This record gives sequence, C-alpha cells and structure tokens, in this order.
Amino acid sequence: MNQPLPTVAPRDQLDRPLRDLRISVTDRCNFRCRYCMPKEAFGPGFRFLPKSAILSFEEITRVAGVFVGLGVKKLRITGGEPLLRRELPVLVALLRDFRCDLSLTTNGSLLEEQAGALREAGLDRLTVSVDSLDPRTFEAITDAGNSLARVLRGIEAAERCGFQSIKINTVVKRGVNEHELVDIARHFTGRGHTVRFIEFMDVGQTNRWSRRDVVSADEMLAMLGNAFELTPVEASYRGEVARRHRIAGSAAEIGFITSVSQPFCGHCTRARLSASGMLYTCLFASQGTDVGALLRAGATNDELEAGIADVWQRRADRYSELRSSTPGPRRLEMSYLGG
Ligand code: GTP
Ligand code: 5AD
Ligand code: SF4
Ligand code: SF4
Repeated sequence: MNQPLPTVAPRDQLDRPLRDLRISVTDRCNFRCRYCMPKEAFGPGFRFLPKSAILSFEEITRVAGVFVGLGVKKLRITGGEPLLRRELPVLVALLRDFRCDLSLTTNGSLLEEQAGALREAGLDRLTVSVDSLDPRTFEAITDAGNSLARVLRGIEAAERCGFQSIKINTVVKRGVNEHELVDIARHFTGRGHTVRFIEFMDVGQTNRWSRRDVVSADEMLAMLGNAFELTPVEASYRGEVARRHRIAGSAAEIGFITSVSQPFCGHCTRARLSASGMLYTCLFASQGTDVGALLRAGATNDELEAGIADVWQRRADRYSELRSSTPGPRRLEMSYLGG
C-alpha cells in the first residue's frame, strides 16, 4: 500500500498550500505544436533527456507519496506526450493507491490504443488537447501530419471505455483558430465534454509569443455569446484554473484559462515534477530543485519530505501577475517541465 502518513501541510510565502502535483513522464512528443515545440527549436538534433536521467515508475511513486504526505490531493500525469512512455498504465495503477484525484493530459494521438488499459488501471479523468476541427488547420498547428482523425477516434475510444466528461483543451491564437470557437464548443459539449479555451501563453523561450496573438477570454466570450447563452458558474474549489460558464438549458460547460488577461496566481497550489525529477513551483520557472538526485543519493522519505517542504515554504512565484515586457531569466520549456 502506498498510503503515506499525514504530516503538517506546508504553506508558501503567499500562504498557498500544496495541493496538486503535475508529473511529467517524458519530455518527448510526437507533435510539434507551433506554440509549444516548434520544429525549428525541437528538430532532429534536439537533445532530449537521456534515458538514464528519467525517473522509473517506482521512483516517481515514491516522490508522489511524499507529496501526498504534504497535502497533495490531485495528481496529473503530463509530458511532453505521456502516452509515449511505455507501459504507462503500470504507473497509473501505482498512483491510484494514493486515492487522489488522478488525471492525465494527452494530445490524444495514441489514445485509441491505450484508453482501455488506462481506465482499467484506475485513471479517473482525461484531458485531451484539440485546437481545431479543420484537418488543415490542425496540421498547421501541430506540425505532425494528418492526425486530427486519429485524435477524434481516440476521444471516441475513451468515451466507450467509460471516460465521461472529458476535458478538451483548446489553445487559441489570433489569426489561427479563433474563428472555430463556436464549432469546437458545439462539437464537444454536444458529446457531454467540457471545453476549455486557453489564452496563448508566453511559456518557454521558443514560441515567439506576442501579446498581439493573444485572444483574451473576454473576446472569446463575446464570440461565443453570439451562439450560446452562457451563465458564469461559481468556482468549485479555491484556485480553480478555468473560469467556467454553463450553456443555458444544458449541463455542458465552457471554461476559459486566462493566464494572460486575468492571472490566477493568488490561489495557485500546483507543483511540477519533470521526467528527470526536477521540482518546479511555477509553470514559468527558470530554476528548480533536483529531487531526483536527492532520491538517487539515498535520501529517506523523511529527508525528501523536509527538502520538498522547504522548497514550498520558500515559494513566492506569481509570474502571470507580474508579467512584464522586459525579458527575465530564461524560462524552461513547457514540454520539459510539464503542462
Ligand atoms: P482539473 O481542474 O484538475 O481538471 O485541471 P485544471 O483545470 O487545473 O486544468 P489542467 O490541469 O488541464 O490545465 C489546463 C491548462 O491550463 C494547462 O494545460 C496549462 O495550459 C494551464 N495551466 C494549468 N496550470 C497552470 C498554472 O499553474 N499556471 C498557468 N499559467 N497556467 C496553467
Ligand atoms: N500557451 C497556452 N497553452 C499551451 N499549451 C502548451 N503550450 C501552450 C502555450 N504556449 C497547452 C497545450 C495543452 C496543455 C498541456 O498546455 O495545448 O493543452
Ligand atoms: Fe506535444 Fe502537447 Fe506540446 Fe503539442 S502542446 S507539442 S501535443 S506537448
Ligand atoms: Fe501558478 Fe506560476 Fe501559473 Fe501563477 S504563473 S498560476 S504561480 S504556475
């Protein structure tokens, strides 16, 4: 049994508890989304993490157990593309023993083959990224050939395996896909899923972010308001990432992730663990703490716990609230530190 003993839950410098751990299991991806891993930067010569640096499932589970002891209630498996990691259901089965809310974010391209095994292993919830329903636009965004149909088949397979109310993440970029919001919302909410439109963010250093390319949540709401009657829904927990709206007369929900126009750092309770065991306390981090090295040096669980609690207690991150036009330290890529 992996259930750790409860200890005192640490608070950071802004009095935020540690509630969510996002676990990246690989820094690789089979897509090259322009806003995340553009081919110019992530070409054939790119040096991904070597195999020896990547934490094993047993190592991840041990670290996750320490986080659960410190108050984490939600675990999310991310990447890169997590379904590229072999035998991922084995990790899901290990993590489910913590009785946390266990979810996974994927690009959906390998879901058709893997949805059943993930469900059986005990995965509670799924988030799938879909930025367009037009095959050509999808291809232009993901730069990975003609894969929209595979992703949609993956979502259908997940529905058949019992994943309900899947979350669909759509990153919105001006001039690229904002004309599709109504179609995307109609398609997925019609199947009982929740759609979350994400403002294009300045994560990493390679995606040529510009504020001009950001479609704000208010603009999106105005576009969607022409097609749906939307009513705001109260946040279901403090620190919820998405601002939610319900479509009148249905249970379907649309959410907006407003990191640029209305930052939500004040209640941010998320930590991120890279595939190599680096701990980051912000999506826009430039530095982390090598928990994997501590573990491999023979640290006990108590020592790991003390190290992680110390990092959390010193945390003062609120990048999105402070976002400025002057370049700060080099930010790490999202595909590496986990979306
Ligand atoms: P659940 O409520 O557990 O379903 O997940 P969530 O609402 O936190 O959403 P999810 O984890 O799928 O996050 C959706 C997207 O929001 C991510 O993929 C990121 O693009 C963005 N996001 C998530 N967490 C953060 C964060 O801490 N800061 C910022 N700026 N963006 C975030
Ligand atoms: N801005 C907003 N969202 C992004 N994602 C990746 N890069 C960015 C970015 N620059 C999203 C992905 C996926 C999730 C992990 O993060 O599309 O849905
Ligand atoms: Fe891969 Fe997701 Fe990044 Fe796209 S957004 S390149 S699917 S990790
Ligand atoms: Fe949390 Fe950093 Fe995102 Fe703010 S910018 S919500 S502190 S991850």
